Amino acid sequence: MKTLRVDLGERAYPIYIGPDLLGQPELIEPFVAGSQVLIVTNETVAPLYLERVRASLSHKTVQQVVLPDGEEFKSLSVVNTIFDALLAQRFERSCTLVALGGGVVGDMTGFAAACYQRGVPFIQIPTTLLSQVDSSVGGKTGVNHPLGKNMIGAFHQPRCVVADTRTLDTLADRQLKAGMAEVIKYGLINDLAFFEWLEAHMEGLLARDQALLSDAIERSCQIKAQVVGADERERGVRALLNLGHTFGHAIETGMGYGEWLHGEAVAAGMVVAAELSVQLGWLDEGSLQRMQRLLERAGLPVQAPKSMAVERFFELMTIDKKVQDGRVRLVLMRAIGDSLVTGEVAPEQIKGALKRHLAAA
Ligand code: NAD
Ligand code: GLY
Repeated sequence: MKTLRVDLGERAYPIYIGPDLLGQPELIEPFVAGSQVLIVTNETVAPLYLERVRASLSHKTVQQVVLPDGEEFKSLSVVNTIFDALLAQRFERSCTLVALGGGVVGDMTGFAAACYQRGVPFIQIPTTLLSQVDSSVGGKTGVNHPLGKNMIGAFHQPRCVVADTRTLDTLADRQLKAGMAEVIKYGLINDLAFFEWLEAHMEGLLARDQALLSDAIERSCQIKAQVVGADERERGVRALLNLGHTFGHAIETGMGYGEWLHGEAVAAGMVVAAELSVQLGWLDEGSLQRMQRLLERAGLPVQAPKSMAVERFFELMTIDKKVQDGRVRLVLMRAIGDSLVTGEVAPEQIKGALKRHLAAA
């Protein structure tokens, strides 16, 4: 087992990564406050892993909420069903919530924990590659609004993260690939050596080699923990973690939540960001092609959906948490492993890049 730490002073917490961790109650026990535990999961993950997690909490009073599965259910009304369960079963402020599932379950459970009685502890047990490398770490929680992705939320750090790499054995190939987009993102934003390692090992990773997956999750979480430790509330460097996300969120919202997986939308969004960087003269064409090749080898889309008109695409991009004083702020690239945040790109340049990208489809 690998252990990392997110260094946030009194809110610091460990990330455990390795096989068969769900069968190790001693990992979560120290972080369960009080005697009441609510496990939040969904209808796909519950039959696979719920009993194992329940068993590891046998000396607590454990209840569960099983949510419908899908990005389209990441909404305030579904979070309300978590509050219904907490209140109906008289959960006190000393309770603990446990998120068991992918990023959708994790984001909603964390948000419920942030809000219930003004904040209760929660534990992340991520079961998708995407959630193990990204969403379970860093304390961003929330839900989608029909007009904008992840626009309602709160910062609320978990007490610990338990990433059992064996749970990835049951994950659909499409979901594994979607998670790989966020893994590749870490290489692109600040780690050329990791990007090169991914180039060397992509086929082994997709074949679910446990040792390779474990190494990729560890390096991804190291980068995320370092960035979050430096800038928990995204006042600066943390925005780099959103490479491809402003374009990607527009795709997710524009196509209807759940049509494009988050990771797929991020992959195509990273390509548009890189193309714009080339057009601005900041990135060389060879680096753009190199990142496209790796995304394609990971089975990810490198093309945004042609059905999205430029004006609508851009309008959706303006509903983004990075917008400041009405200006879209983007993460762009100077090189593989070197990204920057900028609010200096004119709307016409962004629309020009979108137009060229969509025309090339
Ligand atoms: P997801 O939660 O929808 O899970 C993907 C699918 O896999 C679902 O159908 C789920 O039921 C299923 N599943 C989960 N674990 C499984 C397992 N072990 N075996 C079989 N099936 C399993 O999607 P995701 O990719 O995990 O997360 C995407 C979400 O995360 C998006 O809503 C995105 O906005 C959010 N996100 C949040 C952050 C953050 O910092 N909070 C970062 C990145 C992404
Ligand atoms: N996924 C972006 C962040 O956590 O900041």
